[in-house]
Amino acid sequence: MSARDKIVARDLSLTYANEATGTSHTVLDGFDLNVREGEFFVLLGPSGCGKSTFLNVLAGLAPQTSGELSVDGEAVHAARRKLGFVFQGYALFPWRTVRKNVETGLEIRGVKRAQRRLEAERFLRLVGLLDFADHYPHQLSSGMRQRVAIARVLAYGPDILLMDEPFGALDAQTRETLQQELLGIWEQSAKTWCSSRTASTRRSFWRIAWRLWGAGRVA
Ligand SMILES: Nc1ncnc2c1ncn2[C@@H]1O[C@H](COP(=O)(O)OP(=O)(O)O)[C@@H](O)[C@H]1O
Ligand SMILES: [Mg+2]
Repeated sequence: MSARDKIVARDLSLTYANEATGTSHTVLDGFDLNVREGEFFVLLGPSGCGKSTFLNVLAGLAPQTSGELSVDGEAVHAARRKLGFVFQGYALFPWRTVRKNVETGLEIRGVKRAQRRLEAERFLRLVGLLDFADHYPHQLSSGMRQRVAIARVLAYGPDILLMDEPFGALDAQTRETLQQELLGIWEQSAKTWCSSRTASTRRSFWRIAWRLWGAGRVA
């Protein structure tokens, strides 16, 4: 078990400027956060509080206005290759089988066919979908598609997985099941996960839902 800081935000601020109306909107305001290596971290807060904004800054998709955000002590733009963003299941390629979807990142990296197949199977086994390798996304349930999306990102070999509202589009029962499965995948993956979830809280900003590490321990 490691307690090393993986993601550190210090005094992080982001203000969206609307040039058309000449107005601005501060979403992140002097935000501090530490996510430890191997942790499953959930940003929890009401809609519009800035969860997606934070994840986008972390993914290097939106620059902060001020403050620092680092991964392993490096600025996020230098650490991009360590980050994998899990988009919701519908971001899968519908014309490719599950196996081929998971192989996509490996193809881009130039991994040879036999190795690609082995790697893809390893991650499909991890998410419990090896038996569905030759199915197409439309033949799977929404929860299964989400697991394929996770396997695809894991195959890129990131240190950190980012997921924005991974359960957002799912019905209550699927959400419950996937939540359990996700914790199992996280435990076996030995990666740091940073996720978000909408929840009504009385506070205007997010709170941290859970910090988990080790064998699913809640701290
Ligand atoms: N590109 C943008 N330009 C201007 N305002 C934005 C932009 N993206 C998000 N916002 C605003 O910033 C606030 C936070 O949005 P967001 O990070 O998506 O919240 P959450 O993910 O917690 O629901 C919202 O008020 C939203 O309208
Ligand atoms: Mg959001």
